[in-house]
Formats: sequence, structure tokens, C-alpha cells
Amino acid sequence: MGQPAASPVSVASLALRGTLIDCVADPFFVPEAEAVRYFADGLLVIENGHIAALGHFADLHSTYVHLPLVDYSGHLITPGFIDTHIHYPQTGMMAAYGEQLLEWLNQYTFPTERQFQDPTHARQVADVFLDELLKNGTTTALVFAAVFPESVDALFEAALARNLRMISGKVLMDCNAPDYLRDTAQTGYDQSKALIEKWHGKGRLRYAVTPRFAGTSTEAQLKAAAKLLDEFPDVYLHTHLSENINEVAWIRELFPQYDGYLDVYDQTGLVRERSVFAHGVQLTDEEFRRLAQAKATISFCPTSNLFLGSGLFRIEQAKSADHPVKVGLGTDVGAGTSFSMLQTTNEAYKVAQLRGQKLSAFKALFLATLGGAQALCLEDTIGSFNPGNEADCVVLNPQATPLLALRNQATLGDDMATLADTLFSLLMMGDDRAVAATYVLGQRVQTGHTA
Ligand code: GUN
Ligand code: ZN
Repeated sequence: MGQPAASPVSVASLALRGTLIDCVADPFFVPEAEAVRYFADGLLVIENGHIAALGHFADLHSTYVHLPLVDYSGHLITPGFIDTHIHYPQTGMMAAYGEQLLEWLNQYTFPTERQFQDPTHARQVADVFLDELLKNGTTTALVFAAVFPESVDALFEAALARNLRMISGKVLMDCNAPDYLRDTAQTGYDQSKALIEKWHGKGRLRYAVTPRFAGTSTEAQLKAAAKLLDEFPDVYLHTHLSENINEVAWIRELFPQYDGYLDVYDQTGLVRERSVFAHGVQLTDEEFRRLAQAKATISFCPTSNLFLGSGLFRIEQAKSADHPVKVGLGTDVGAGTSFSMLQTTNEAYKVAQLRGQKLSAFKALFLATLGGAQALCLEDTIGSFNPGNEADCVVLNPQATPLLALRNQATLGDDMATLADTLFSLLMMGDDRAVAATYVLGQRVQTGHTA
């Protein structure tokens, strides 16, 4: 790291009362009763921006009576949501009509990203982007910037000002893209290195080396990306993989010397524990096994996969007992159609249904919280309410809209089945309106619609 890591500044100390729910293990592999922790009338104690304790209100309140108490009775309190794949420069180009991946990139995406060489424009969009994430209860994201280093500065400056745990990086792209968006293997390497030295470890920020995908990087550039990972072992690798059938065929044409799409990344040194691959819709069983072996992550982006007609992700394959692959959820805005992780779990449920699978409320919550943290190797820091973790959390109102109020007329029950049912309604019907408040390091950052 180029400079000492500033520690996150927060003096927030307070207690939140409400129905606490978080995951302490992976419910795809452990019975839900063991994977999920909840307190129907709970108290979440936050000291200096970190979780100090959690438990039943009746047991804990007298110990923490000196702390300011915010009463969210009737609401669910969960860890802040984690979006493992999103593009901030595409915020203003959501809902681009009519194309699938490769045509969509050429027609809409590249011209949009060109604008991010202007630092003023980049900062304006970065501010809108972060506000939108927070409004939706998302407190951490792994973010594609654009090819211009200024676009990374803009996002990190905006995230630092909000004390957010964000991971991002400059896009690497040295072929098969317009001149105005291309770097070279050398300039991409040099600019990424300078950005790592400037930002990685500053506050809660981390850097991800970000080749767009094998279609827009030469072998030399992919190898230069791997060199950066060797030189900075705790930075991430963030790219796209096996999203669309035509894309997979094109990568085979571009790299005939390799044994398929994942192998291009593998042989160039990019398949590692801190590697996050968006999509993986078209992966073979063998490729899933290789990802499991490398402890790499797939970001499942259902709204995007449906919007671009890419296909249906095989979550049951990723979560196979023999070769489990880490999976996070991604919105993939702007191919994704919502910033809301609630809307994203809604579409994930439907993708599972179309494949004859069930995605339970608790499994979906896991993907949006602890699963995302594990995907980013951050499970000791965020994603659950374990004491010592950073106090990023979201407050959800089961009666936020007239329809939700009709659906959830009874008060929140205190058994797991009732809780699962209420949570499921929020995951299917909720959006930013269901987010009553978002807390970052124990500080409320967003005023909700109801609380
Ligand atoms: N593959 C390469 N670039 C992109 C992108 O910007 N969005 C999506 N969804 N897939 C990609
Ligand atoms: Zn993407």
C-alpha cells in the first residue's frame, strides 16, 4: 500500500431496537435454524461505529441504558446489503432498449462511458450512484468505474466523504473497443498501479483490478493484470465471465489456444481467491469445479441476465456440496434494472423457479449479506452482526406501502416461519420504499419513507 491505512472515523454509539435478523453460516449447506440468528424483540448495540452486542431487548437494555435508543419495533433490522457487481458509469443508461450483450455494449455502453473522462460529470454521477445505493440499503459494493483514472478518483472521493466500504477500479480495455476508450497493456498497468497506491486501504476503500472481459483485453493486458495481483496480493480481480452465448463463442475465436472462457483467465493468472466473476450463466460443470477449487466468486446478477436475455444462472450447481463456489448477488446496473437488492432477490427467486429450484427467504437474505461478504473475503468485517463488525445495517418496514401493509397485517411474529414469511414478502415486493433507514458505521445516512 502506498500510504498508511486511515482507520474509519466514527464515534457513533447507540442502540437500535427491532427484530434483528442476520446469517451466521451458509443456509445452502447448514440447516436454516442454525444459519440464521434472530431476536424478535432485539437490541443491536453499536459503540464507536462497530457492533458491541446483540440480544433480546429485555436482557440487554438495562446494561446499555446510557446509550441513545432508536426504536424500530415492528421493523426488521439486517446487515447492510452487499452488491457484488455494479457499474457506476452506467447509472444514467439503465433501460437501454432492445439488444443483447455485445450489441448493447457497442450501441449504448461505450458512448456512455466516454463521458467519464470529465471529472465533473464523473463526480456528479458518483454522488447520484452512492445516494441511490444507500437509499436502497446497500452499504458495500464492488463497482466498475470507466477506463479513465479520473472516474475512479471521482467514485472514491465520493465514497470516502460518506465513510463507505467500497471496492472499485479502472477498467482495462486495450482492444475491440472504440479508440476513445482504449488503454494499452502498459498504460493500463501503470494507471492501475498508481490508483492502487493512491486509494487501496484509504479509509474503508479497496481496489479491484478490473479488466472489462476477455473480449476487450489482449493476452498481454490480462497478464499485466495478473502482475498487479502478484504485486498487491490483497487487491481484488473484478471482471465478467460467460454471460451470453454469442460472447462465449466469440471468446473462443479470439483465444483459440485456450480451452474455453474461464481458461483464458486461468492461464493468464487471474483465477484466484479474491477474483469476482460477474454472471457465469454459461459455465460448464468443469468450469464451476475450477472456480470452487480456486475459491473464486461468481456474482449472480438476475435482473441483468433477464434484461439482456443472457440466461438463467444455475445456482444449485454453484452451491453443490462437492464443489461449492462462493456466490454473491449483483445488480449489474445499467444492464440490471434496479439498484434494489430486494428487487434483485425477487428476480433471483424467479430465475430459480424457472429452473425448478426454490430460493428460500433466508437463502436470499444470505446472498445479499453474509454471502456477499464471503464473496469479497470481508466476512470478518461486514455482512453479519457479529460483535466487532462494522455497524452497517438496514431497517426494513414490512408495512412500507399500502400493498405491503395489506400483505403484512399481523404484527411481526416471533417464530422462524412467520419471520420467513414476512421477510419473503419484503424480498419479493420491496424496493427502496421498504428501506426505512440505512446506517453506515452506526450513523444514519438516509431518511426513509416511513420511519
Ligand atoms: N461484459 C463486458 N462489459 C459488460 C458490461 O458493461 N455489462 C455487462 N452486463 N456485461 C459486460
Ligand atoms: Zn457488468
